[in-house]
Amino acid sequence: MTESLLCLLTKQRIKTINPMKKIIVIHGPNLDLLGQREPAIYGKVTLKEINEGLKKIAQERKVSLTIKQSNHEGEIVDLIGKSKSKFDALLINPAAYTHTSVAIRDAIAASGILTVEVHLSNIYSREEFRHKSLISPVVKGTILGFGPNSYYLGLEALIDLIQIQ
Ligand code: DQA
Repeated sequence: MTESLLCLLTKQRIKTINPMKKIIVIHGPNLDLLGQREPAIYGKVTLKEINEGLKKIAQERKVSLTIKQSNHEGEIVDLIGKSKSKFDALLINPAAYTHTSVAIRDAIAASGILTVEVHLSNIYSREEFRHKSLISPVVKGTILGFGPNSYYLGLEALIDLIQIQ
């Protein structure tokens, strides 16, 4: 009885000293259509399946995950703005906004949140207008070209980073 109480108190103390790290995942425009959208480029895996894979990793590595998808630039800017006070890190696929959005780039820079950018496809092997990411210069790192594995590798990298912080 005393031993299990002690064990409980120790676990509680570990949780207080070392609270569960929190990561937010943001999927940009049209990623809700994955599975049916240009499967030759993006594959047949749905966003729901990618999210399930991400949740599995989060559960195994004991971090909390919040997942959002938005087709609206301003909404993504708002989410990033609120993220710094609520989350330890951000995993983002800005989708088409990668190539156009100064607002999303500025939101990441302003928040200072630890961020990893991911893309399913290799944007550098595609049309020229996709060769520039406005986001890459303000993130810790970018993973691209590995399909859903880009997300999983990105999440693992973020977890490694926040757990040594
Ligand atoms: C994408 C690449 C972008 O160029 C494109 O607009 C997307 C998806 C990717 O994950 O490969 O919507 O970010």
